[in-house]
Amino acid sequence: MCGIIGFAGDKEAVSILVEGLKRLEYRGYDSAGVAIVSPEGELQVKKSKGRLAVLESHLSEEKPLRGKIGIGHTRWATHGEANDQNAHPHVGQEGKIAVVHNGIIENYLEIKNSLIKKGIHFTSDTDTEVIVQLLEYYYKKYNNLMDAVYKVLHRIKGAYAMGILCSDCPGQMLAARKDAPLLIGYGTDGNYIASDVTALLAHTRKVTYLEDDEVAVLTADQVQIFDSDRCLAEKIIHTVAWDVAAAEKGGYSHFMLKEIMEQPEAVQKTISPRIMEGKICLEELEQAGDFLENITRIYIVACGSAYHVGMIGKYTLEKMLHIPTEACLASEFRYSEPLLGESTLVIVISQSGETLDSMAALREAKKQGAKVLSIVNVMGSSIARESDVVLYTWAGPEIAVATTKAYTTQMVLLVMFAVYYGERLQRIGEKEYGEIVNGLLQLPEKIQRVLDDVDEFQKTAAKYFNHSSVFYIGRNLDYALGLEGSLKLKEISYIHSESYAAGELKHGTISLIEPGTLVIALATYAPLIEKTLSNIVEVKSRGARVIGLATEETAPVIKDQATDLFVIPKVHPVLQPVLGVVPLQLYAYYVALNRGCDIDKPRNLAKSVTVE
Ligand code: M6R
Repeated sequence: MCGIIGFAGDKEAVSILVEGLKRLEYRGYDSAGVAIVSPEGELQVKKSKGRLAVLESHLSEEKPLRGKIGIGHTRWATHGEANDQNAHPHVGQEGKIAVVHNGIIENYLEIKNSLIKKGIHFTSDTDTEVIVQLLEYYYKKYNNLMDAVYKVLHRIKGAYAMGILCSDCPGQMLAARKDAPLLIGYGTDGNYIASDVTALLAHTRKVTYLEDDEVAVLTADQVQIFDSDRCLAEKIIHTVAWDVAAAEKGGYSHFMLKEIMEQPEAVQKTISPRIMEGKICLEELEQAGDFLENITRIYIVACGSAYHVGMIGKYTLEKMLHIPTEACLASEFRYSEPLLGESTLVIVISQSGETLDSMAALREAKKQGAKVLSIVNVMGSSIARESDVVLYTWAGPEIAVATTKAYTTQMVLLVMFAVYYGERLQRIGEKEYGEIVNGLLQLPEKIQRVLDDVDEFQKTAAKYFNHSSVFYIGRNLDYALGLEGSLKLKEISYIHSESYAAGELKHGTISLIEPGTLVIALATYAPLIEKTLSNIVEVKSRGARVIGLATEETAPVIKDQATDLFVIPKVHPVLQPVLGVVPLQLYAYYVALNRGCDIDKPRNLAKSVTVE
């Protein structure tokens, strides 16, 4: 969603801000802007609707913005359409204070109306403008910026990460957060704020995470962080493991393709440190004492693709642990009045670790005394910090909006958790344990074998990219896999697609099948292959064109029914979706490429959804 970058240092700020905003582009945005304070206290702002290139051209055509301290923003419209006025930074009516903000101020209308009654004139439709107008109002009243900031933070309700500049304090930048991510970066040439670590990697890997209700005051050579009582907070400085190259395209035409191709390495990095002498070792859980004792119910809670991992997890966990497990959409879970308690384990899955609905579900779970384990990719993210135990996927930064390598590593880690826990509970036999561990170790090489067939997926995509509707069908793990395949296709190619449990077709959906309808039949789940075959025959006999996805073992069963067939290596059934998703990702990618879509930044979507 929106992105924030800020810099206070000993270099001209404008290019640092624009370069930082470019690294945040992947999050999705519709307008962008920067504000810089000159050493003499002149507050200069440039902002515009559209891509960063538009802002850059304004910046190059007009008088250069001078100053070594500034804030920048990419906006994804929530309150007020995408236009120049609604773009950030927003400036108060006195022209003294500028603010960039991520999140939503829920009581903005009430504050706005009370400020209007006091004669304050608003120039945008955004909720953010109330922050800056209120700040100026309090600043005028108390003549102290920190007093004004704390007053505002007490008054506003909702979620925010914000950067603040004031022309009366030209060497200072302030930042605050609540329920929206904000990091402080410690560089050699100055200090930074950012909503996302990838914006900082070119300058520093030393960061600290701002906590809710903290306020940071940054100058070129100092960072001070205050808690809600205005006491100086002691903060730990972390070193981020990612390097700047990991967040660059490295010769690929899209981040999505690069990230698909990185999956063998990402899976390897997620697995290797956790298998020792044939045993799965999840140190994080070893250190958590009796965390896994007496669990009688498991909820896997997540959004989008991470929820699809949860669907796969439901099948796998119930099979390995014999504990009732449900996969829940985080946006539904939080309002469904779930009955949780000490014997409930809630597993939150999130690439970004910042998805608002998943975060809210986590908090609800903790409030009700449940144990929370999270599977997260971004170190130090909000979900990671608030969970009782975190298992990190080591996928590296994922930039494309459509998740690929985070999804596969989440699946791998969830299977590892299931097997590890199953063994602790003595519910998994030695033979199966060994087979899955072997399967895990072979995964990177087998994923690579699937990737080596890239030309085949490309050719098939070229044949079918014009279909306006696509159905994915499958049973059990293949059904869960179909949900992900379908989401990949629709989000980047804008083709309508749906995924159905193959056994459900006859209960309604089959009426949509007519001659030429494209059906992607997932037939990798060997235990139910005969039943899946019947469903394929049903759609085939109504004229559907069938692209089959099968393993070396199941391909002979379905090959006569498929117009096109992708064959992938066989692996233990619980790991099969890790290989199965790769052709679906590549198929979606090449369909979108053929249709000329903006693959890394699909319309209306953002990488990390930090609003409800
Ligand atoms: O960061 P998260 O894993 O919590 O994000 C959840 C979903 O928004 C995400 O998986 C989304 O569905 C994907 N971008 C789809 O490719």
